[in-house]
Amino acid sequence: MKGVILAGGLGTRLYPLTHVTNKHLLPIFDKPMIFYPIDTLVKAGIRDILIVTSGPHVGDFLGVLRNGKELGVEHLEYAYQEKPDGGIADALLLAEDFADGGPVCMILGDNTTDADIGGDVKTFQDGGLVFLKKVTDPKRFGVAVFDESRERIIRIDEKPENPASNFAVTGLYVYDNKVFGYAKSLKPSERGQLEITDVNNCYINENNLKWVELKGFWSDAGTFRSLYSANKFWAEKQGE
Ligand code: DAU
Repeated sequence: MKGVILAGGLGTRLYPLTHVTNKHLLPIFDKPMIFYPIDTLVKAGIRDILIVTSGPHVGDFLGVLRNGKELGVEHLEYAYQEKPDGGIADALLLAEDFADGGPVCMILGDNTTDADIGGDVKTFQDGGLVFLKKVTDPKRFGVAVFDESRERIIRIDEKPENPASNFAVTGLYVYDNKVFGYAKSLKPSERGQLEITDVNNCYINENNLKWVELKGFWSDAGTFRSLYSANKFWAEKQGE
């Protein structure tokens, strides 16, 4: 399986920090943010990785990551998203050639977790797979809506006013190659983006979206509060 990390966007919610560099190179305790999703992929046995990035600081990535060997990456590629806030599905479309007809495991570059997704990656066959996590503030995320048995997701709502559950869709996904066809079929949302939630809803409509609960810590780091809590968790995990 190949891996894709999305590290575009302008990081406006973290101004003035993101005037200095790309959000995904800001520190989370003792490492740049992007080291964490890279580590999650490498631990899952994924060593062929594409980083999609954009914005004014794209050159900073090469200086920090170089060819990725020190992080256990065997093959590292970069792609440039023309419209930095075109949406997660727009950024994923840049991985179509890289995927070469196969499945991909995608992680949003501002997500950190200590969960091991290696088992789920190895047993993945087809369709889509999302990792859910119970949160106290579901309005900030894609939220799973379940059927009565609470086993099947019937819809995902993006940042709902009235969340139907407190299960957030985390920024870790595994997709078969149909994902590119679904992403191409999307229309921009109200915020002008190609939404990954709409891609997931395409899989749901085909009855082909599975989910598992992500075990362990998970947080995004796109706001000052979540950046702080991610820093706190990783510092404490290392006994600081
Ligand atoms: O963190 C999980 C959440 O991520 C999910 O629950 C939501 O369903 C999903 O839409 C997303 O929500 P956000 O609004 O928090 O995503 P954000 O715009 O912060 O983008 C997440 C990462 O994706 C960011 O670190 C950079 C990358 N990205 C984002 C956009 C919009 C790109 O590479 N290109 C883009 O155009």
